[in-house]
Amino acid sequence: MSSSSRNRVRTVTTALGATAFLLAVTACSSSSGGSGSTGGALPSASGPAKGTITWFANQFGPTGTDVRKTLIAAFEKANPGITVNLEQAPSDTDAYRSTLTTQISGGSSSFDVYNGDVVWPAQFGKAGLALPLDSYLPSSFWQTFSPGLVNGLKYQGQTMAVPLFTDNSFLFYRKDLLAKAHLPVPTTWEQLQSEAAQLQKQGLVKYGFAAQFASYEGLTCDWTEFDADAGGQIVDSGATKSEINSAASLKALNYMRGLISSGVAPAAVTTFQEQQSEQLFTSGQDAFLRNWTYAYADSNSPASSKIAGNVGITNLPTFAGQTGPGYSVTGGWNLYVNPHSKNLAADIAFVKWMASPDAQKIIAVQGGEIPTVASVLADPSVQSANPAFPVAAKNKLVTRPSDVAAYAQVSQSVYSNINAALSGSTSPSSALSAADKAIGTAIGGGGL
Ligand code: GLC
Repeated sequence: MSSSSRNRVRTVTTALGATAFLLAVTACSSSSGGSGSTGGALPSASGPAKGTITWFANQFGPTGTDVRKTLIAAFEKANPGITVNLEQAPSDTDAYRSTLTTQISGGSSSFDVYNGDVVWPAQFGKAGLALPLDSYLPSSFWQTFSPGLVNGLKYQGQTMAVPLFTDNSFLFYRKDLLAKAHLPVPTTWEQLQSEAAQLQKQGLVKYGFAAQFASYEGLTCDWTEFDADAGGQIVDSGATKSEINSAASLKALNYMRGLISSGVAPAAVTTFQEQQSEQLFTSGQDAFLRNWTYAYADSNSPASSKIAGNVGITNLPTFAGQTGPGYSVTGGWNLYVNPHSKNLAADIAFVKWMASPDAQKIIAVQGGEIPTVASVLADPSVQSANPAFPVAAKNKLVTRPSDVAAYAQVSQSVYSNINAALSGSTSPSSALSAADKAIGTAIGGGGL
């Protein structure tokens, strides 16, 4: 049953106060046919916001600091009646999604609020794995976020999450090595490859480039960028058919494979997620790195990096002949509410506070992540706190086709086939043809 066909009647919705609000839901629907656990009436959140809640969250922000704990302490100070327990979630987005899917569809209420990827709203909305939040938060609340963010939270008109932070990708480079070799910061992928090879040849560095080429969601991110730079896309604009078997996509894939076959990227890059690629860079063995915002703080911190002070950040390159810069995929994380939570009033107080200027400043300044609230991102003290933010303002963004409820299957069709070509177990053209068929099946099947 689609969520729009559910018969809900909401009777009372008051503006949210800092500590208490009322919301009553009287009607219910035939939840029997619902695919999701929110198929029936929306749960009530009446009464004061107090008690203990559990936040299931993966680590974010720079290595060595736990910004989640700072946020919890500040929230508890501002909301003395509520205590928040932190439960550690897996760092790999795919593994984390499987854990959540199993637990929530099994009815678990062991956590109340959870961090979730920006690509999950459609899938989680369809499966009833998250509570739609429109009835609990006033419309003015949603207007504080940067343009475009709220659209990405929707499933069939319902808002499935609160934006926590945005991820952009960047090119990180060794300033010292480029200076030694008298090379400019590259603006095209072709230039990056030849400069990387030159640095390697001169014995200045072992490898030239690292990124996230393992078989998982991160490769779909990297692929989306290379593909868009070459003029390709995964699906058409209405997400009705696959577009991956194109000349542009073949150009992108041949280039990526060439990075490995030429020895610019290590063969092991086909097993690298964010952490491994960052480690190769921060251990001094790599000249260029594609990674997310936090990698700037990590690679320039003496506690986590051998190359601190020598790292530059800029927009990703594009292919020669295209207008630069290259594309950055839009990433990031939201806060979702478990539909089985027993303390909705406290959950809402928590997710609402996490979008407050106080919380968003902690996320930006201490966490090194891009805040989702437009006024906080524009604040000069925030802009000057992290050199990544002014570079992010010049990023050209591309999204993954996550508005398709079958996005998880679409993405898997992409990363498994692209990874097979990168590791040499199939040719680039066979990989694209196989991905094309698999994406077609995923879109046709509706997903989940
Ligand atoms: C980052 C992004 C997220 C993406 C993931 C892939 O965490 O914020 O959107 O799905 O990387 O590994």
